[in-house]
Formats: sequence, C-alpha cells, structure tokens
Amino acid sequence: MAESITITDNRTGEELEIPLVNGGIDAAEWRSLLPGVWFHDPGLATTSAAESAVTYLDGDNGVLRHRGYPIEQLAEHSTYLEVAYLLIHGELPTQDQLDAWVHDITHHTYVHENFRKRFVDAFHYNAHPMGMLESSVAGLSTFYPEAKEIEDPEVRMHQVVRLIAKMPTLAAMAYRYSIGMPFVFPDNNLDFPGNFLSMMWRVAEPTYEADPVLTRALDTLFILHADHEQNCSTTAARVVGSSHADPYSSVAAACAALYGPRHGGANEAVLSMLNEIGSFDNVDRFIAGVKDGKERLMGFGHRVYKSYDPRATIIKKTAHEVFAVTGQNPWLDIALKLEEVALEDDYFVSRKLYPNVDFYSGLIYQSMGFPTNMFTVLFAIARTSGWLAHWTEMLEQSSRIARPRQVYIGEDTRDYVPIAQR
Ligand code: CMC
Repeated sequence: MAESITITDNRTGEELEIPLVNGGIDAAEWRSLLPGVWFHDPGLATTSAAESAVTYLDGDNGVLRHRGYPIEQLAEHSTYLEVAYLLIHGELPTQDQLDAWVHDITHHTYVHENFRKRFVDAFHYNAHPMGMLESSVAGLSTFYPEAKEIEDPEVRMHQVVRLIAKMPTLAAMAYRYSIGMPFVFPDNNLDFPGNFLSMMWRVAEPTYEADPVLTRALDTLFILHADHEQNCSTTAARVVGSSHADPYSSVAAACAALYGPRHGGANEAVLSMLNEIGSFDNVDRFIAGVKDGKERLMGFGHRVYKSYDPRATIIKKTAHEVFAVTGQNPWLDIALKLEEVALEDDYFVSRKLYPNVDFYSGLIYQSMGFPTNMFTVLFAIARTSGWLAHWTEMLEQSSRIARPRQVYIGEDTRDYVPIAQR
C-alpha cells in the first residue's frame, strides 16, 4: 500500500495525493501541490524541522535513546564526557579515543585572563549567574575569531572541545563572582564533575576532594540532561546556526532559550512550589487547587512524554543515593506524597501527567549545596554537548537558513495619514 494521504481541495474539487516520507508529510511536496497554503503551527508542535540521528524519543512509551543507546544504560555505565563524545561523534569511543577526548577537554578548561579580569569583572555585583553565563559564552566568540570558519571540520571540532571544556569554568566563575569569592582555577588532576565541584566550592585547601557519591550523582545528572532532541534551546541553537553564525553565538542563543522558566527554569519552580506547600498536611489542599486550575503541579507533565519521563525514574534513584550522603532533603516527603497522590488521581491519570526530569533534580541540587539560581546553569553545562551535536549535524547536512512563514492577520493596504490629521 502506498504511503500517502489523499486530500480534496474543496475550492476546486481537485484530489491531491500527498506522499508520506519517514512517517511525515514532505512540506516541499505539499508546497508544490498547494502553493500559497501554509502550515500554521505555533510552537512547532507538529513540525519536523530536522532530520537527525542524534536522539530518539518516544514520548508515549517513555523511551529516550542517544545514538541508539538507551538512556538507562548510559546513566548506569557511562560518564558525561563519554556521552558527549557519543553525541558529537555518533559512536562510543575506544579507550584511546576516550583518553584523547578527555585529555583534550581537560586541557581547554582555562579562559583567557583578559576575559576573567575585564569581561567577568564588569558584571554588576549581584548579576544572575545564568545571565552571566549566557553573555560570557557570546563574549568568548570575540576571543576566537577563527570560529567563524564553520565550514572547516577541524576548526569546528576545536570550538566544540573549547565550549564543552569551558562551560563549567564559566559557570563556576559566575557563581563565585555573584557571592564575592575569588575564582578557583581548573584542576587538571580532577575529572569533569570533580573539577567543576572544586571550582565551585574550594576555599583554602590545596586540593578539593568531593565525595565520590556526589561527584557520580552530578555526572549522572549531566548525562540525563545532555540531549533531548529538538527542544526549545536546541532549536534556538539550530536557528542561529542556520545563518552560519559562529558556534559561540549559537550556544549563547541556546542559553538564552534555556533561561526561561518554561524550559530550564522548571526545577527551580518545583522548589518554590514545595516551599509554598510548606507541610505534608497541605498536599491534599494543593492538589485540589491544581485540579481547580488555581495552581500548576511543577515538575509534572511534558510536551512530548505522555508516560513516565525515563529520566525521572533514574533521577529518583540518584536522589536517594545523594540523600544518604547529605542527609534527607526536607522537601522530599512532600514531593513523594505529591507524586503518590497525583499518580492515583484521575485528573492527572486522564491527562497523562507524570513526573518529568525536573521533579527531583532541584531537590538533589539543593541538597548538594547549589543555590537555586545555579540550577539552570547546571542544565546548560550538560546540554552544551547536545546543542553542539545538533549544530555539527546540521552543518554537515545541506541545511537551509531557518526562515518560517506567517499567516498575516494585519490591516490591508492603507494610505499614510499626516500626523496633524490623525
Ligand atoms: N499541572 C496541572 N495541570 C497540568 C500540568 C501540570 N503540571 N501540565 C499540564 N496540565 C494540564 C493542562 O492544564 C491541560 O489540561 P486541560 O486538558 O484540562 O486543559 C492538560 O494537562 C494537557 O496539557 P498540555 O496542553 O498537553 O501540556 P503542554 O504540552 O502545553 O505543556 C508543560 C507541557 C511541560 C509546559 C506542562 O506540562 C507544564 O507546565 N508542566 C509544569 C512545568 C514543568 O515541569 N516543566 C518542565 C518540563 S521538562 C524540562 C524541559 O524539557 O525543559
């Protein structure tokens, strides 16, 4: 049977056969058959804007795979840097490839002294770390003018390494600056998450030694946030990248998109919600408020997942491992009760609302000592590898500049009226 859909144009009575390609309608074919008829799709909820081999997501069945590997296996057996390699290169590395990759990343963690002294020091004393990160990434492009040579694979890869390596440095720098603490230089003897924790927390000790459970938990959280196919920030990176801007500009755009509370800021919102509920006894009243439309259960629901977010399952286990070291998070009881009530309530069940990745991640970050304004920054460190995997993939394909159309709903033509007559 032919893979196509036949539609009737009621304006002319003409029947048109629209072919299906990879389960979707080829818009180019549609355009040639129905010129001037647009797909109106705000939020791009039913539009595929890319052919991608990076990440597979089946929201109905709670499946997430990177380059074919299930997220559960990567979270259990891999490291963030290995997953970053997988996302960028398409295959898991051999030991030699991994060693070279880790060495390369480790030796690109420093930022230019002028950048630290003149650029970072210019921020207001109470600047939000995410705002600092976003503009710092854009600022880096001025230090690497060769990054504009986006057609050269070697130059491209050099910037990919630099960006993955420097994000933790910029993130920790933003945090230390915001609390008035001196900057801690990267320590090449530490692994990726351990070095970040050292740059965050080290004070006067010669070497910062993080608890291995916490280091591993942070690495797991980085793995879980590394990529999520065509989400808002990745789309922002692709749209800017499609104009052939340099990768620092594309990643800065992605950071800007992530900054918003509907995307990277949801884990912070979960903590505000738990704070507002305040005690175990108020859970039922809060749930009633959600059902009345007065409240929103943050950390629940997802545009794509209509079953349990597989990342939430892994994060819940990680949370218990972290709390065994840090002591139980005071909000955990309320969170567990909320989840229990919601999963049994028809309002949530019928709408297929399940916990998403952010329901527990904020609790973990809080217990590890991160202030809430760093939560989105942590997300950005991890998602940088995903943004760059999609950016690289896009440039390797014959991509066109992103330039959507619109349905015009404004005034028809009218004559200019001199100001005295208005
Ligand atoms: N609490 C209460 N009701 C909800 C929620 C929620 N968290 N999420 C959706 N609903 C209701 C919604 O009101 C609608 O009800 P009705 O059919 O009666 O109008 C129904 O469920 C279907 O919602 P939807 O329109 O399919 O949801 P959406 O795809 O437009 O929005 C969402 C997805 C993630 C923005 C939304 O679920 C939400 O606001 N969740 C809370 C915020 C959150 O946790 N965001 C993190 C997402 S994961 C991180 C990331 O990818 O960036």
